[in-house]
Amino acid sequence: MSEPAIPTVTLRPGIEIPLLGLGTWQAKEGEAYEAVRTALDLGYRHIDTARAYGNEEEVGRAVADSGIDRSEIFVTTKLPSEEVGDAPRIIDESLAKLGLDHVDLWLVHWPPNNEARPDVWADVVAAQQAGKARAIGVSNYSPAQIDELTDATGVTPSINQIPWSPADYDADLVAAHRDRDVVLEGYSPFKRTDLDDAVLAEVAAAHGVTPTQVVLRWHLDTGVVVIPKSVNRERLAANLDVTGFSLSADEIAKVSALGS
Ligand SMILES: NC(=O)c1ccc[n+]([C@@H]2O[C@H](COP(=O)([O-])OP(=O)(O)OC[C@H]3O[C@@H](n4cnc5c(N)ncnc54)[C@H](OP(=O)(O)O)[C@@H]3O)[C@@H](O)[C@H]2O)c1
Repeated sequence: MSEPAIPTVTLRPGIEIPLLGLGTWQAKEGEAYEAVRTALDLGYRHIDTARAYGNEEEVGRAVADSGIDRSEIFVTTKLPSEEVGDAPRIIDESLAKLGLDHVDLWLVHWPPNNEARPDVWADVVAAQQAGKARAIGVSNYSPAQIDELTDATGVTPSINQIPWSPADYDADLVAAHRDRDVVLEGYSPFKRTDLDDAVLAEVAAAHGVTPTQVVLRWHLDTGVVVIPKSVNRERLAANLDVTGFSLSADEIAKVSALGS
């Protein structure tokens, strides 16, 4: 089977992240290994995990067992907000569990106690400088919190992973990320979507695809990274099968209007 061409976007400092990856939150014990193996077989090259998901070891084993060159797989993990005081130890533990000498992206999972915490960010920057993460970023941060990190350290997170779906679409938030050269990465694309929505059904019918595929294609066509989770082979394949069509400007506008 030929590999589907998933587009990429560039993260500072010049690292390509595939716009579509596999989410692994709530993949149960044993499921994460199988899901990642299947996903890599199908052509996924981007896996999103986190220390808090408890599956770094399974993800790492699946990456190793896949036989695919490490350099072809983009792996993200995250620093739990409860453990930010221990960041240097946590990245080493994550790498040990993953069986990797670096991750492609390390994120602060949440602003600790809803604070930006530049001191924590400085530790994340140090991990990148030590070669333990190729790119670094945050998750669930506001643009103002990102500015606090930049102002204090001179280093802007390259990406912000936040809840995102057509219903969450917010042009101001998109612009706030673009203006800061921060890539927007969305999570929970399906959980946050009414998959019975009439607009999604209409667009899906026009392309002979499903509403879930329209949601994923809308992310790709708007340059937002998306990481749908599945542990089911058919759904993993369907979620990757979004390269054979694209949305018109009018369709993108209609889907984005679900957020207003
Ligand atoms: N940074 C953060 O704070 C944060 C928070 C939440 C999530 N995340 C990341 O984002 C990823 C995705 O978000 P999520 O897991 O919350 O939600 P999601 O990807 O929107 O939805 C996952 C659910 O949708 C089902 N599903 C998958 N493909 C489907 C399809 N084609 N048709 C119908 N149902 C389908 C899955 O079931 P099956 O597995 O049975 O297919 C699962 O129940 C997470 O796994 C995690 O990696 C990050």
